[in-house]
Amino acid sequence: MDHTTEIELLAELAGLRTARAFYLDDAVTAWPVARYTCPDRFGREMQALFRTLPAVAAHSSELAGPDAFLTRDHAGLPLLLTRDRAGAVHAFLNVCRHRGTRLVGAAKGCRRRFTCPYHAWTYDNRGALTGVTHGKAGFPGIDRAELGLRRLGCTEAHGWIWIAPGTGAAPDIDGFLGGLAADFAWLGADGLRIVHEERREWAANWKILYEGGLESYHFRIAHKDTIGPFFQDNLSSYRLFGRHIRSILPRARLDAEMALPAESRSLRRATNLVYSIFPSSQLLVQEDHIVWIQALPAAPDRTLVRMATLAPADADTGDPETARHWRKNHEITARTLAEDFAIGESIQSGLASGANADLHFGRFEGALDRFNRIVEEELAAAT
Ligand code: FES
Ligand SMILES: [Fe+2]
Repeated sequence: MDHTTEIELLAELAGLRTARAFYLDDAVTAWPVARYTCPDRFGREMQALFRTLPAVAAHSSELAGPDAFLTRDHAGLPLLLTRDRAGAVHAFLNVCRHRGTRLVGAAKGCRRRFTCPYHAWTYDNRGALTGVTHGKAGFPGIDRAELGLRRLGCTEAHGWIWIAPGTGAAPDIDGFLGGLAADFAWLGADGLRIVHEERREWAANWKILYEGGLESYHFRIAHKDTIGPFFQDNLSSYRLFGRHIRSILPRARLDAEMALPAESRSLRRATNLVYSIFPSSQLLVQEDHIVWIQALPAAPDRTLVRMATLAPADADTGDPETARHWRKNHEITARTLAEDFAIGESIQSGLASGANADLHFGRFEGALDRFNRIVEEELAAAT
């Protein structure tokens, strides 16, 4: 993002604030409750969105150095991510091609070869099958080239490792980002590393959790004991970039920022940005760090959320003061998100009760309507 855009985005929000106005869409919309509860629909969303579209699978720092690997589940897909000697990243299904055992049990490490715990078939970190135990006698004529690990599309861009579960080819991430590539360069995530992370399953549909990051209508109310007082009441703007949404939520210091000469104003100092990267990741961008929130569906009413705080890679976390700073930062975000997700669970049980046939999005909740329209478009395109 260039500085002119930063100044324009700040001025837009400051103008709304001065006029005591909101960032409004044209109409109130209503969406059927069944979209959040129906198992058949959930299966179609899993296939069309989570098993097909490119997605952030890891931060580059999680796979640092030659022969690093990590394993992780991605919406039901067991992933093995590796970095080879030459530094290239690969993504495979973590499944032995003999009889389907989970090949690698460790969460992460440094290894060039992986040996299956069942009958010791062995693969290298580029996915090739290099060893078949007693293969000459037991598997004569087997084509080893056909039995390499199942490869998923994978590439590294802007400090993240992206997978494309729907294909074996490396995804074009700048194309996928729909005009957000310049923002991703501006974010500088390649200069960060994960300092804290946690995972928890929440009893809510993935869309409810995602929607919580798309409006500021609830901030002063649901977050009154945490971050609410630091933000403007019900004031935020958003833009669509392909399937993705960039939301901007001005902090209480917006006025102080606008009092500075235009060339000194900073969007990251005066606002929180949320990049909702469809469908599974949201990046909460603050002045000097980023929180990565990944919501992966497990069932219509269950979602696994991973939250990671990324701090500057050169921050000395061995220094007690610095360590305390990042721990406090992580804890306040975790508490705030827990407020959102607990409400998400309450919504899910409310929807299951049959009290409402529809959910209603007001004119300042337009980003939620846009997001759900994108979900519908993707499902329609997949059939
Ligand atoms: S299942 Fe892996 S070697 Fe048999
Ligand atoms: Fe919230």
